[in-house]
Amino acid sequence: MNINSCTMIIFGATGDLTHRKLVPALHQLKWGCHLPENFNLIGIGRRTKTKDEYIHDLLEGLKEHTNMEVEQATWDYLAKRIHYFKMDFASETEYSKLFEYLDKKKNEEGFSSNYLFYLAVAPDKFGLIVKNLKDHNISDQQDGWSRLVIEKPFGEDLQTAYNLNDEISKAFREDQIYRIDHYLAKEMIQNITMLRFQNTIFEPLWNNAYIDNIQISVWEKGGVGSRAGYYDKTGALRDMVQNHLLQTLAITAMEPPKSLDADDMRDSKVKLMSELVLYDKSKSKSDVVFGQYEGYQMESGVSNESRTETFAALKLFIDNHR
Ligand SMILES: NC(=O)c1ccc[n+]([C@@H]2O[C@H](COP(=O)([O-])OP(=O)(O)OC[C@H]3O[C@@H](n4cnc5c(N)ncnc54)[C@H](OP(=O)(O)O)[C@@H]3O)[C@@H](O)[C@H]2O)c1
Repeated sequence: MNINSCTMIIFGATGDLTHRKLVPALHQLKWGCHLPENFNLIGIGRRTKTKDEYIHDLLEGLKEHTNMEVEQATWDYLAKRIHYFKMDFASETEYSKLFEYLDKKKNEEGFSSNYLFYLAVAPDKFGLIVKNLKDHNISDQQDGWSRLVIEKPFGEDLQTAYNLNDEISKAFREDQIYRIDHYLAKEMIQNITMLRFQNTIFEPLWNNAYIDNIQISVWEKGGVGSRAGYYDKTGALRDMVQNHLLQTLAITAMEPPKSLDADDMRDSKVKLMSELVLYDKSKSKSDVVFGQYEGYQMESGVSNESRTETFAALKLFIDNHR
C-alpha cells in the first residue's frame, strides 16, 4: 500500500461546493504535482447521471470557477479518475451497495484503500453518513487510513456545534477529522502568519504600545444570488464572522504558537478566544451593529419581512498583556 495513494469520496458531489471549490482545488493540486498517481474520485449524488455526464458537469464547473487556465493534460488526468455513484444518503439500505462498490473498485481495479471522505452536504446529513461509515467499519479500516473532511457551518450555535462534534466523534478519532475553513487558505491570510512569526521586524512591535486598534473588513461584491435558502436562515454573523473572521482575528492577535503545527496553532488560537471580552447587555447595544442591504427583501427566495442581517460590525476587546 502506497501511503500517499488516495480514494476521495465526496458525498454531495453534484452540489455547488464540489463544482465551485473542490474540483478547482483538485485541478490546481494536480497542476502543482501534489496528487498521487493512484488517485480516484468517487462522486456520490442523488441524481441519475452517467459517468460521462458527470465528468462533463464537473468540467463546466471547473471552467466557470477556477482562477487559472484549465490545462488539458491536468484535466485528462482527473477525468480518467472520476467516477459517479448514485445514492440517497437518507436510505440506510443504500450504504451496503456503496461499500460493495468501494470493495469492488479496490479489489478489482486497484483503487487505494486510503479513503478521504468529504461531506459536501448540509450538516443535518453528517450524523447518518458517519454512523454508516462506522457501522461498516470503514471509518477505522485495517488496510489503509480513513479521514473525514467537513466544512462550516459547524452547527448553528454552541449546543448544535457540540451535538455535531459528538456525532462525528462517535465514528472518527480527532486525528482523522479535518474541519476545513477554506478562507484560511487565502494568500492574504496565510501571509499574516508569515509576516508575524517569520519576520523579526514586526513581532516586537505587535502590541498595544504601537498599535491602537485593528480593523478587519470583508466586503462581498455580489448579493445573495441563489443562496437565499441557506443565507436567509444564517445571516452575516454566522456565515462570516463566527468562522472566517474570528479565525482571522485569532491569527492576527494571538501569541506566537510553539510551532506552526496544527495543534500548536490551534492552542494559541483557543487561548486568544478565551481572552475576548464577552458582551454584556449595554455593550452589545453600543458595540454591535447589524444591517441589511437595500433590496435584500426583494431577492428571490427571501421573505419581504426578513430581518436577516447582511451586514455585521462588531467592536471586540482582547484582555491580555499584548
Ligand atoms: N458552496 C460553497 O461554496 C460552500 C462553502 C462553504 C461551506 N459550504 C457548505 O457545504 C455544504 C454543501 O454546500 P453546497 O453549496 O454544495 O450545497 P448544495 O449545492 O445544495 O449541494 C448539496 C449536495 O448534497 C446532495 N444531497 C442532498 N441530500 C441528499 C440525499 N438525501 N442523498 C444524496 N445526495 C443528497 C445534493 O444532491 P442533489 O443535487 O441531487 O440534490 C447535492 O449534491 C453545506 O453545508 C454548505 O453550507 C458550502
